[in-house]
Amino acid sequence: MAKQALITGITGQDGYHLSELLHAKGYTVYGLMRGQQNPKRGRLEQEQPFIKLVEGDLTDQSSLIRAIELAKPDEVYNLAAISHVGYSFKTPQLVADVTGKGTLNVLEAIRLTGGTKSIRFYQASTSEMFGGLDYNRPGKGYDEDALFHPRSPYGVAKLYAHWITKNYREAYGIHASCGILFNHEGERRGLEFVTRKISNAVARIHLGKQDHIELGNLDSKRDWGYAGDYVEGMWLMLQQAKPDDYVLATGETHSIRDFLELSFKQIGIDDWKPYVKQNPAFMRPSEVDILLGNPAKAERVLGWKRKVDFPGLVKLMVEYDIGIESATNLV
Ligand code: NAP
Ligand code: GDD
Repeated sequence: MAKQALITGITGQDGYHLSELLHAKGYTVYGLMRGQQNPKRGRLEQEQPFIKLVEGDLTDQSSLIRAIELAKPDEVYNLAAISHVGYSFKTPQLVADVTGKGTLNVLEAIRLTGGTKSIRFYQASTSEMFGGLDYNRPGKGYDEDALFHPRSPYGVAKLYAHWITKNYREAYGIHASCGILFNHEGERRGLEFVTRKISNAVARIHLGKQDHIELGNLDSKRDWGYAGDYVEGMWLMLQQAKPDDYVLATGETHSIRDFLELSFKQIGIDDWKPYVKQNPAFMRPSEVDILLGNPAKAERVLGWKRKVDFPGLVKLMVEYDIGIESATNLV
């Protein structure tokens, strides 16, 4: 019998990669989509017709119960969230409702429909929960035992979601695992995130459609991997006999300047500085200065390992954006 999976956040970056992976493995894939007229519906129906779309919203408990009753999933991947850290400072209460309490709503939908013993649950936890204060294990990278100190309303909401998932595992015996994922990027990354903002601008500068890019803090560092590699780790977590929490990361950290440097090199520009203006509008009230993950447990227990390295990621993203931008006349 083919397995059934329900993915919340189906229109997001990870929803794309995970649904492709599960489809290739023979799953029947259900995707929760919000809004009465979601602008991404058309693209999804055209590109991924295998996905069975279910309407619903993380803030609407009854819609989640309906989605579970309809999909009868073996596995639920909770990827839905308001996921932009900068935006979370502007809408902190909404982010608490969606990114934080929304996770409780999904867990409750599983419990209320009697799925605590039959459904396996994945929670999209994040390195933002660590907050970049490298006070407890300098240089080693954050692992599953590192201290949490979130630095944004998003990080705080995700920490609630993380702990409520662990609580449902302990209280009700749900096979619920949290993937503490460090930044992962790719050709499906939203244009509001720094890597894709850069790769897209570099492509447009190359094609003469744009002459500069405006960014905020250039000094922060991130542990950047490729999203396609990371969804494999999510799936592996739910295939284990016992639920647990795992860090997925590359074990390397690079600054925004490094990303700019490699991206501009792709189009033959060695000095990127004349093309970049700093704009305080993109700065955050409190910043996560550095993220570095330690994926040793995932590598040992799950046999997971990232495949795409940092230069490979930058190349893939810039090349994709040059292709997309060349194919359209829009400026
Ligand atoms: P993303 O591209 O921003 O996708 C977020 C998804 O959540 C979208 O499908 C969005 O739908 C949906 N959503 C937002 N509000 C909702 C609501 N009220 N009800 C139902 N769905 C809602 O994020 P991503 O990069 O794929 O990341 C997936 C998950 O992993 C997120 O939870 C994110 O916080 C977490 N995470 C991401 C990273 C990373 O580096 N990418 C790292 C660690 C953790 P619309 O399209 O309708 O807005
Ligand atoms: N978005 C954005 N836009 N970020 C900028 C810009 C800009 O114009 N200029 C500088 N930055 C800096 C941010 O201040 C931050 O230090 C860094 O670039 C990365 O920002 P994002 O790409 O927005 O990602 P993030 O690290 O804040 O959050 C992402 O990764 C988390 C995991 O660590 C998101 O995907 C989160 O959902 C995820 O949990």
